[in-house]
Amino acid sequence: MSSDCLKMIGISKRFPGVQALDDVDFTLKRGEIHALVGENGAGKSTLMNILGGNVKADAGYMELNGKILDISCPIESLNKGIGFVHQESNLLENLTVLENIFLAREETKLGILNHQTMRDKIVEFQSIYGYQIDPDRYVSSLSIVEKQSVEIIRALICDPQILILDEPTAALDSNETERLFSILSQLQNKGVAIIYISHRIEEIFKISQRITVLKDGKVVGVRKTNCVDKDEIISMMVGRVLEDIYPNRKNHLIGKPVLSLRNVSIHKHIHEVSFDLHEGEILGLGGLEGHGQRELLRAIFGDIAFSGGSLFGCGNSYDKVGMRKRIHSGIGYVTHDRRGDGLFLNETVQKNIAIASLHLRNRLGFIDTNQEKKKVLEKIEQMSIKITDINQSITDLSGGNQQKVMLARWLLINPYVLLIDEPTKGVDVGARMSVYQIIDQLTKEGIGILLFTSDMMELIGLSDRILVFYEGKISGELKRGEATEEKIMRAASGIRE
Ligand SMILES: Nc1ncnc2c1ncn2[C@@H]1O[C@H](COP(=O)(O)OP(=O)(O)OP(=O)(O)O)[C@@H](O)[C@H]1O
Ligand SMILES: [Mg+2]
Repeated sequence: MSSDCLKMIGISKRFPGVQALDDVDFTLKRGEIHALVGENGAGKSTLMNILGGNVKADAGYMELNGKILDISCPIESLNKGIGFVHQESNLLENLTVLENIFLAREETKLGILNHQTMRDKIVEFQSIYGYQIDPDRYVSSLSIVEKQSVEIIRALICDPQILILDEPTAALDSNETERLFSILSQLQNKGVAIIYISHRIEEIFKISQRITVLKDGKVVGVRKTNCVDKDEIISMMVGRVLEDIYPNRKNHLIGKPVLSLRNVSIHKHIHEVSFDLHEGEILGLGGLEGHGQRELLRAIFGDIAFSGGSLFGCGNSYDKVGMRKRIHSGIGYVTHDRRGDGLFLNETVQKNIAIASLHLRNRLGFIDTNQEKKKVLEKIEQMSIKITDINQSITDLSGGNQQKVMLARWLLINPYVLLIDEPTKGVDVGARMSVYQIIDQLTKEGIGILLFTSDMMELIGLSDRILVFYEGKISGELKRGEATEEKIMRAASGIRE
């Protein structure tokens, strides 16, 4: 018997205006971790959605353990032993964790919903893998990381032989990522085959045995991981060799302070922090996640309250000013949770880009829609956002293009300060370079940028200065050129030099 547990042969799929997959072959061996990589929009999620029963292929066929595999819906895929952890949470928000995990499963089909049995099963399962989420909580009350854990439990609880993970670490910090990797190696030892999608090349080299590269819906090649290097995979993905991906900010000019914080505190998160952000500066907030950086960005935006201290910029005190006025004065905020509190999922691309800057086009209560369309199209062009129509639903865009939409939205308010939380989450290398160029260009126009990212190389590569946070306080300050991963980690662990 062949060692392939899954074959997908000649798979094609067309969406209106785009050939998402074109005659793709993909095979998976028992017990391997097989990485699927490619630029945003290459077709990775679509291929997996076909296997997971969310999308129907136009052509091609699949085999599972040598037998033809027909899948008409997601539950069927799950019941055939294919677990799927989606790129964006696929859970039903108004149901509980337990209801989501057992939705339409065998256990519920018997007609008797044995709540306690299901609850026990989840708790037992969580203890094996080290998760702790109350099964009776509503999904709407969970954080992104918790939602993802629920998806993982949901996929694993019925003992899959194949597990699909679509960018599982985009929302995780380094500890959570390590925990996930240890779960994956446990599963691998049990013979589970894993399809792993990620834009983080380092991760792929760390955990996979084979790599399939997709570009524009076609397979560029399949490689054994230990027979290639990162540069080769990247050039297969983008079709060219990439130079240094971070901007060169050597002769960059930094001006007067544009935003100042004095002794600001946020209850339980930040304690008496003071600093200035300058005109044209990229100021990175470093350190491990959960040390207050994310709350600080949200509080500057006005989404949560400061419990003490003062915030001012360009002659304005913001202490008694709410979020709406802060936006109008030119403070923009790109959230890390684009599906949760970023994008309007039922709206079009145009609405999503236009939404924060309506006040600039409001004439006596009417919105100038022609002007809006023109502005939106300009940004789409400038940032090479891949769309087929400005009125298409935002959910049809690939993850990376959704991220660019979020940036485009805030650029339209003509910001003087931009708060950015994870600028390139789920963004491929090529598009990431263009996001970096956009950020670099914005600072040349004098905008001050306050940046938080869990990607250490990105933090070092972009920031003119880094403030490292430890337990809600600044534990170190490093200038561009002197910042190294090691120095940041020392300060992030509370070690003072
Ligand atoms: N439901 C849909 N309707 C219309 N077009 C779609 C739909 N889903 C995907 N597409 C398009 O198909 C192409 C492939 O998208 P897909 O989501 O598979 O890319 P991806 O490789 O997963 O990208 P990313 O890394 O950004 O997640 C893109 O051009 C995308 O816009
Ligand atoms: Mg995708």
